[in-house]
Amino acid sequence: MSKTKIPALPGDVTWTEDQWKAIWAKDQDILVAAAAGSGKTAVLVNRIIQKVISEEDPIDVDELLVVTFTNASAAEMRHRVSEALEKAINDNPHSQHLRKQLSLINRASISTLHSFCLEVIRKYYYLTDIDPGFRIADSTEIQLLRDEVMEELFEEQYGQSDNEEFFNLVDAFTSDRNDDALQNIVRSLHDFSQSNPNPDRWLDGAASMYELADDDGIDDLSFIDSLKFDIGLQLDTARDLLERSLAVIKTPGGRLQGLRTI
Ligand SMILES: Nc1ncnc2c1ncn2[C@@H]1O[C@H](COP(=O)(O)OP(=O)(O)OP(=O)(O)O)[C@@H](O)[C@H]1O
Ligand SMILES: [Mg+2]
Repeated sequence: MSKTKIPALPGDVTWTEDQWKAIWAKDQDILVAAAAGSGKTAVLVNRIIQKVISEEDPIDVDELLVVTFTNASAAEMRHRVSEALEKAINDNPHSQHLRKQLSLINRASISTLHSFCLEVIRKYYYLTDIDPGFRIADSTEIQLLRDEVMEELFEEQYGQSDNEEFFNLVDAFTSDRNDDALQNIVRSLHDFSQSNPNPDRWLDGAASMYELADDDGIDDLSFIDSLKFDIGLQLDTARDLLERSLAVIKTPGGRLQGLRTI
């Protein structure tokens, strides 16, 4: 599996064979998947420590990029690497290299992926067209901004004469009173598109499903089969309810009972 030679598993450690392999695997991508609490973080911490204390090719901890999903696991990671470093210093108290690592650990890149990206953008904002004073909005702020943009967009569309396509859309999806229903559809489309790797492409693809040639009929829509299936299910349910209502009504006193259940 590994392209490099793995040292023999010392007798005084409790690592399993697989953990030991994961600690030493080099020059390849590795994916460690194991049950909760089975030692994934321990393996990762040890991988880091082995690279730092390596005799042939020692590295500094701030040369590594360690990213996690949550702030809590980033803090846990930094803490566990510090602990492991202290232990290594205990085993080897005269090592200048190891002492230096303890001072470097605080500025080592051990963080969530989001804060790492934020740091990169802050540092190199001048290479992008992002305002250097930018900050991350919280989720309520994002919702409010989005609603504001949607209001403006709808206003703009309503204000345009000769905008038949938009008015058809409004007629098809809204009640007489307001256009909340249509706005909700736009919101869920936006939410769903954001979970795609390329939201704009996904939205274009979704819109293009409605493009039909002049001589195409409704059966040429690419999603017609699943739409028919869905309508079929709804009709089945409706028929089932009707049949049950009919059975209730036919029993003695059924009409009254039927009324009560309504
Ligand atoms: N082979 C082993 N022998 C003895 N103890 C071990 C072994 N592997 C891991 N441990 C210990 O098990 C405990 C849990 O390990 P660790 O936190 O690394 O698990 P994890 O897989 O990262 O857990 P989680 O899924 O919660 O993140 C730690 O105290 C670790 O030192
Ligand atoms: Mg863990």
